[in-house]
Amino acid sequence: MLGVCYYPEHWPRDLWLSDAADMKALGLTYVRIGEFAWSRIEPARDQFSFNWLDEAIDILAGADLKIVFGTPTATPPKWLIDEHPDILPVDPNTSNIRRFGSRRHYDFSSETYQKEALRITEVLTQRYGNTHAIVGWQTDNELCCHETALSGSENAKTGFQQWCRDRYGDIAALNEAWGNVFWSMEYSSFGAIELPIGAVTETNPAQQLAYRRYSSDKVIAFHSSMIAVIRKNAPGKWITHNFIPKEDLGVDPYALGAELDIASYDNYPLGRADMAFKGAPAEMMNRYMRTGHPDFSSFYHDTSRSFAGGDYWVMEQQPGPVNWAPHNPRPAPGMVRLWSWEAFAHGASCVSYFRWRQVPFAQEQMHAGLRRPDNSNASAWSEVEQVKAELNKLNINDYPKTRASIAIVTDVQALWITSIQLQGAGYDFPKLEFAYFSALRQLGVDVDFISKDSAFDGYSLVVAPCLPIIDDAFISRCQQSDAHIVFGPRSGSKTDEFRIPDALAPGTLQNLIPMKILSVETLRPDCPQALEWNGDTFDSLSWCEEIEAGDGTSVIAAYGNGEPAIVGTNKATYIGTATDDLFLKMFLKDKCTGVGIAVHALPDDMRLITRGKLTFAINYAEDPQLAPAPTDAEFLIGRRMVGGHDLSVWRTAQDTVSNNP
Ligand code: GAL
Repeated sequence: MLGVCYYPEHWPRDLWLSDAADMKALGLTYVRIGEFAWSRIEPARDQFSFNWLDEAIDILAGADLKIVFGTPTATPPKWLIDEHPDILPVDPNTSNIRRFGSRRHYDFSSETYQKEALRITEVLTQRYGNTHAIVGWQTDNELCCHETALSGSENAKTGFQQWCRDRYGDIAALNEAWGNVFWSMEYSSFGAIELPIGAVTETNPAQQLAYRRYSSDKVIAFHSSMIAVIRKNAPGKWITHNFIPKEDLGVDPYALGAELDIASYDNYPLGRADMAFKGAPAEMMNRYMRTGHPDFSSFYHDTSRSFAGGDYWVMEQQPGPVNWAPHNPRPAPGMVRLWSWEAFAHGASCVSYFRWRQVPFAQEQMHAGLRRPDNSNASAWSEVEQVKAELNKLNINDYPKTRASIAIVTDVQALWITSIQLQGAGYDFPKLEFAYFSALRQLGVDVDFISKDSAFDGYSLVVAPCLPIIDDAFISRCQQSDAHIVFGPRSGSKTDEFRIPDALAPGTLQNLIPMKILSVETLRPDCPQALEWNGDTFDSLSWCEEIEAGDGTSVIAAYGNGEPAIVGTNKATYIGTATDDLFLKMFLKDKCTGVGIAVHALPDDMRLITRGKLTFAINYAEDPQLAPAPTDAEFLIGRRMVGGHDLSVWRTAQDTVSNNP
């Protein structure tokens, strides 16, 4: 199914009817509205203006479109801020108030805002909760976007103090847990606790971790209470949230997704890739600036798909140049279609484009839509038509996504811990996790993401690129599972309170792999050291752990000086260093084949992904490339030779579950 994001309040009333008819004619099923419209819905306190919204809903419903309604809480109106300035968040880096004039100008710690957000949600869901055409609700919009998870406000400080009281019970326990004897940081009461911001130099990492945990809990509590209101007033309707990339979210995405029916993601492959690959060599950006990196969108499809138990949408799909990245190229012809299909292949049941028509005013006037401001069709239009025609032939929902054989374990605490204690400027957790994912995807295997608390059932290989805090329950799940587990550097390196484990890193992981980390050195990324594996020399980069292998643990790879760099047992492997990409690909290939997972030799920039009996070959390259389809493949889209920026889809007799041959 296809959808679009639409803002009737941006357009004259006399366009609505033809817009709705044209959406339907294009083959769209869903339209998302409402998420920034608070000032038009409630222009002054308790003075509601519903006529325009009723009419817009009627018109869209009249065209047989299904509506997703976004609660408008990402944009509290000016009158509300004037009434309650304490809603505004404070930038934790500068201690400046983040003022009215854009969006997301609210503090998750403001109880006033919590009440106001629930009040508007209550009003809207009471009015529209049973409206037939409104089939689902979106909570807020891109929670925590624009770095809004953390606030340095007085409200945040009081909330943090209470959170500490609840967690530690008495102040001596907190001082002990955080190690506040160091630098005389001891507190005499919970009321004396500061936020770990604005200090002369680095604040206590344990306190920083607590602040991240508190802030994450606040976002989740805000979100949960909104969900409760929607559930109460809109029975039988599904609820989603449109996630930003999990590294930008900075909140536990599994806790946030737990109460949702559907997870959705806003997919901007060029804008976000331009930011994520900032500083990459020009050669790489020339290659990918109009396509995005072949593993970039899929990384977020696969991560976001895991947040709410598997049901998954793309709520916003980039249709042309955006306005917000440092550089905003046009997508190469064909890419809007390719990204749409890639999302379906990775499990999406709907792809919804942002936005219907480019708006000629305000902040996003340079952001493309499916239509230009003069209402002519923009370049994505014909690609959406093509996707719709192809979807009509190939009913994607007949092919549910099946579990992969490989799971990557991800945990927001890895992001928190490694950014709080970087230790070496060359270490970058998001890049490292992406490198593991990308290496696996280059081998043509499907990958699921799972939380650290998930069961491993059905997985033959579980990869944890970085899992600093490992509890006993995780270790026993490893022991009970048949999977081989691969751990990346820094795994097991901290206790729950950000200490070095008593028996040294990797702490509890020593129950799986007898070993110790004796020291860690970090090096400039442009000063690689040798990594010897399997008779070849690769690069050990930036992060190098000194490992002592215990009884029963074998040395699998060594640094140039002969010391162990990778160790393991039959059950698990520990990689003590960041490595080059080629090594990761070769090493993970070896791990896959070792547990019976078939890998493919893929041309560069081609990826495979399965959905039930369907296999998709997605070609990010400009030139045609040959897909490794079996001889009896029944092609439903395209053929064995996949065009440049194009895809092929074939069906096999069996579910292509788990990449097993
Ligand atoms: C998203 C956001 C939309 C719009 C879009 C522009 O992050 O949810 O409201 O701003 O970006 O690309």
